Amino acid sequence: MAVLEWHAGLNVGIGFMDDDHEVAAGQINALAEAALPQRLDLARDFLDHCRHHFAREEEMMKATGFFAYGCHQGEHERVLAELERVVAKLEAGDPQDAYFTKSLPEWLMIHRNTMDFVTAEFARNAGWRAA
Ligand SMILES: [Fe+2]
Ligand SMILES: [Fe+2]
Repeated sequence: MAVLEWHAGLNVGIGFMDDDHEVAAGQINALAEAALPQRLDLARDFLDHCRHHFAREEEMMKATGFFAYGCHQGEHERVLAELERVVAKLEAGDPQDAYFTKSLPEWLMIHRNTMDFVTAEFARNAGWRAA
């Protein structure tokens, strides 16, 4: 059973964000269902996806002068550090089930509903049109 049901109603109206979020939701569903050692490979891919996605959001925030850049960027940094710790635990053989079936899907929804939503609205109002 999928831990996240992504749909168009969760789009924030910035093309690359919506595309990346849909990919992330699919990755989290796969992570929740996977067991070691596949979960480790999927987690490394997810970390990579997050690094690129966060960097693109941060680029857009800087280009549009987003007022809460430090807050949003700091949360990205916190999550990347958390994912690095989780990957290390997977490498040590701990499957981290609750993280992938509960904490991570909950985080994505909260992050989409708060910082990403506000950032996207600000960027659209600032005339951001890049894909
Ligand atoms: Fe995002
Ligand atoms: Fe974000």
